[in-house]
Amino acid sequence: MKRVLSGIQPTSESFHLGNYLGAVKQWVDLQNGHETYYSIVDLHALTGDVDPKLLRARTLASAAQLIAVGIDTEKSSLFVQSHLPEHNQLGWVMECVASFGEASRMTQFKDKSSKGGADGARVGLFTYPMLQAADILLYQADLVPVGEDQRQHIEITRDLANRFNTRYGQVFTLPDAYILKEGAKIYDLQEPTNKMSKSASSASGVIELMDAPEINTKKIKSAVTDTGREVIFDLENKPGISNLMTIYSVVTGKTIAAIQDEFAGKGYGDFKGAVAEATVEYLRPMRDRALELLKDEGELIRILNHGAEKARVLASKTLKDSYKALGILG
Ligand code: TRP
Repeated sequence: MKRVLSGIQPTSESFHLGNYLGAVKQWVDLQNGHETYYSIVDLHALTGDVDPKLLRARTLASAAQLIAVGIDTEKSSLFVQSHLPEHNQLGWVMECVASFGEASRMTQFKDKSSKGGADGARVGLFTYPMLQAADILLYQADLVPVGEDQRQHIEITRDLANRFNTRYGQVFTLPDAYILKEGAKIYDLQEPTNKMSKSASSASGVIELMDAPEINTKKIKSAVTDTGREVIFDLENKPGISNLMTIYSVVTGKTIAAIQDEFAGKGYGDFKGAVAEATVEYLRPMRDRALELLKDEGELIRILNHGAEKARVLASKTLKDSYKALGILG
């Protein structure tokens, strides 16, 4: 069985429909036929602004939602990155394998650091890919399910692993990126030409898993639509309606053609009502389960500690092997 590892930053209280479909749902599917390790990478979240209360709440909320959407904590090891100091320890080793030049070429660093001026950028933002490499290599992962934007980070992980193995002896498995299926593209409800994203200018365009049903109903009913009144899929001229059709298709399993037939001769109002209801019902069991889990923090933390115990078996072995290869006195 191939081993899979992925990570998600606890940067919000709720997944949105786009993240769920684009990543987390596929993590759930990968549990069949793979040995899966999923990490809530809280140390990576320190590279952005930190509000300690929020970081804690978001870490718990991420765990609750991952379980609620179907990460099975018996099948998968679900753990919080900071619970395993091995990540920092191997992260340092990777920093000593990486060159300043290759780290400087990471596009995510260049994009993020250019926003606030490179001088003010955190050093942790610069060393981020080496910590990510450690996340992956500690578990000898074969496959790393990520979005296209992370491809370069998997490439540098392979390069670092290969360099280490060549110089100090075979310790690490070289991982492959497993680029997640884009699937249905979901756009912002208010700006239907932008991808649905947590960095949207307004929350009213984003369908959040943890939002109350009334809130999501209201967001969908207030979605921007287009002139005209026919429910027809036309991304160019009717991005708003087309987006709602995509959402309806995803949550009901109906094809776009069937949806066009279903709403032939009906107006936008009827259509939006149907989309709202179907979406809210689709999310409801996941939201309810997550809320249930969040009621008992102690139990949630116990589950995460159990995940960390499972993860530690591999992480501590790999760290030891790498130290030994380096000549670190054991
Ligand atoms: N950098 C990843 C992201 O922003 C998160 C991440 C951290 C990750 N460590 C990882 C993803 C290890 C895959 C494997 O999405």
